[in-house]
Amino acid sequence: MKINQAEIVISAVSKKQYPEEGLSEIALAGRSNVGKSSFINTLINRKNLARTSQKPGKTQTLNFYKLNEAFYFVDVPGYGYAKVSKKEREKWGKMMDEYFQQRENLKAVVLVCDVRHEPTDADVQMYDYLKYYELPVIIIATKLDKVKKSKQHQHVKVVKDTFEVDAEDIVIPFSAETGEGKDQAWQAIKQYL
Ligand code: GTP
Ligand code: MG
Repeated sequence: MKINQAEIVISAVSKKQYPEEGLSEIALAGRSNVGKSSFINTLINRKNLARTSQKPGKTQTLNFYKLNEAFYFVDVPGYGYAKVSKKEREKWGKMMDEYFQQRENLKAVVLVCDVRHEPTDADVQMYDYLKYYELPVIIIATKLDKVKKSKQHQHVKVVKDTFEVDAEDIVIPFSAETGEGKDQAWQAIKQYL
């Protein structure tokens, strides 16, 4: 898909602040530092519209990126970052629940995991949570550039097996470095817009 227009509309911490015009939303989910914001930048061809960082915990709010005046990507803070207080974790949980459970505009979730490693318990919990709320999930196995070509297939299989993915959910090997998987990701997303 060609993105001609991309802008951040709001960094929200509660539902009162969500945009109100009723456009479809695709949200990101995944461990802190896994590459959610980088995924957005790659798809929309912007270097750093969604802020990225080598340090985990960069994205702290629900960031609504409006694309082509037609739909939103919603960047979400990651989970599983150890250096977070109990209070902050609770705040995060509340913010996530409010969005994932109640947001009518939310059409599908892109769950980003690291293709180098077996998905963690937290990853599987997130997947199960999204399925419980009947949200379609697109799994992006990112950082493919860090795995040798000859091993990639095996790594993707581990991701599929660990999540025990439903038949209708797809797993897309992806790299924000090389752009691999970008077209496939757009195809998967487009069907929910
Ligand atoms: P939080 O906002 O903290 O939850 O992190 P995030 O999931 O948004 O991760 P972010 O996109 O900020 O990326 C984290 C780090 O991983 C950055 O240093 C990125 O450059 C790097 N990174 C992301 N995607 C890729 C990829 O496909 N390949 C490689 N080699 N590095 C990547
Ligand atoms: Mg981020």
